[in-house]
Amino acid sequence: MVRFENVHMSYGEHAVLKGIDLHIEPGQLAVLIGPSGCGKTTTLQLINRLITPTEGKIFVNGRDISTVDPVELRRGIGYVIQEIGLFPHMTVKQNIEIVPKLLGWDEQKRSARSKELLKLVGMEERYLDVYPAKLSGGQQQRIGLLRALAVEPPIVLMDEPFGALDPITRESLQDEIMTLNKKLHKTVIFVTHDMDEALKIADVIILMKDGNIVQAATPKELLSHPANEFVESFIGKQRQAVGKLDTVREVMSARVVCAPDDTSVVEAVDLMRRQRVPSVFVLNKEGGFDGQISIKDIQSFSCTGDEMISRLANKQIPTVHPEGSASEAFKIMMQENIDELPVVDGDRVVGIVTRRSMVTSLAKVVWQGEAHE
Ligand SMILES: Nc1ncnc2c1ncn2[C@@H]1O[C@H](COP(=O)(O)OP(=O)(O)O)[C@@H](O)[C@H]1O
Ligand SMILES: [Mg+2]
Repeated sequence: MVRFENVHMSYGEHAVLKGIDLHIEPGQLAVLIGPSGCGKTTTLQLINRLITPTEGKIFVNGRDISTVDPVELRRGIGYVIQEIGLFPHMTVKQNIEIVPKLLGWDEQKRSARSKELLKLVGMEERYLDVYPAKLSGGQQQRIGLLRALAVEPPIVLMDEPFGALDPITRESLQDEIMTLNKKLHKTVIFVTHDMDEALKIADVIILMKDGNIVQAATPKELLSHPANEFVESFIGKQRQAVGKLDTVREVMSARVVCAPDDTSVVEAVDLMRRQRVPSVFVLNKEGGFDGQISIKDIQSFSCTGDEMISRLANKQIPTVHPEGSASEAFKIMMQENIDELPVVDGDRVVGIVTRRSMVTSLAKVVWQGEAHE
C-alpha cells in the first residue's frame, strides 16, 4: 500500500532521512516511533507529497507518487495532525465537510456523511452545530479524525494525535482507532513517541533513530527479539516511563471487608458501619468471591433485616485481576458507573479499586508527566 525505496531527505547539509526502505501492507496499522527529531513527521509528509524526497522513490497503491497529481493523491490520504487543527470559527459540521465541499458534494450528501461519521465515534447529531471550543479534548480529536475520514480515504496518516489527552481519554481513542482500522479496513500510519501506545495498537512497529529505521517488527517480535541495544533501551526506558499507569495491584487497597453469604442484612449493615465502608464482598461457602452488596443496594431493596445477603448480592459486578492494567480498571469503573471494583485472583478477593485510587493514580501521572516534559 505504501512503499519507500531508499528514500533520503535533506535540508541543505542536514540529512534528515538517510535511506528509508519501508513496506506497509493494505489494512495494516503501522506505528512510527522514535525519539524526537528522528524523522517521523518528515516520513509522513513525504507520503502525501507535502515535501519531496531528495533521493529515492515512494509508491502509494503501486504508483510512484512523483507521477501523481498531489491534489489527487491527497484525496486518497486522510491526515490528522498533532494540534488537531480544527477551525475555531467553523462548526463541527463545517469542519468535517471541508473536503467534501471542495469536491462539490451537495448538501444532502455531505449532511448524510457527517451524521454517519459522528455515529462512528459514538457522538450525537446535536454536536454538528457546535463550535470546537465547546468540545472536550477527546471530542475535538475525534472530529479531527472524522474530518480526515470524510471522503473515505484508504490511507490515514496520524501524527501524534493523542499526545495532549489525559490517559483515560487516550486509551478509549486508541480502542476506537483499532476498531476503525479493522472495521473500515483503512491502512493507518500512526506516529507516536509512546511505546505503550505503539505496543497496544500496532500491527507493525517501525522504530526510527537519526533518520534510519532501526527495526520494523510486530509488537511481539520487538519485545522478544529487539534488534539491538538501542531498541532494548528504548523499550525499557519507555516501559518504566513516568506517565505510565500502573497495574491494578499497585493502585488497589488490600483492605477488603468480606462477609459469608449466610450473613443477615442487619449483620452486614453493622459490619459496614463498624469498618466504615460503603459495601462488603460476599463470599460463598468455600470462601470464594460471590458478589458485592452495598449500603445503597440495601436501602433501595425492600428487604427484612434477617434476610440473607446472598439473595441481594450483586453477582454481575465486573472484577479485575491484580496484574491487569489500572487504566482498564478505571475505564470499567467510569463506563459502568461503579464506585468500588473488586480485585479477584482465581476466586479469591485480594483487593479493591476505589474512585480514590483512581484520582491518586491519575494525579501521579499528571504530576510526573508535567515534571518530565
Ligand atoms: N523544513 C525543515 N527545514 C530544516 N530542517 C527540518 C525541517 N523540517 C524538519 N527538519 C529537521 O528534521 C529533523 C526531523 O524532523 P521531524 O521529522 O519533524 O522529527 P520527528 O517528527 O521525528 O520529531 C529534525 O532535526 C528537524 O529539525
Ligand atoms: Mg513530529
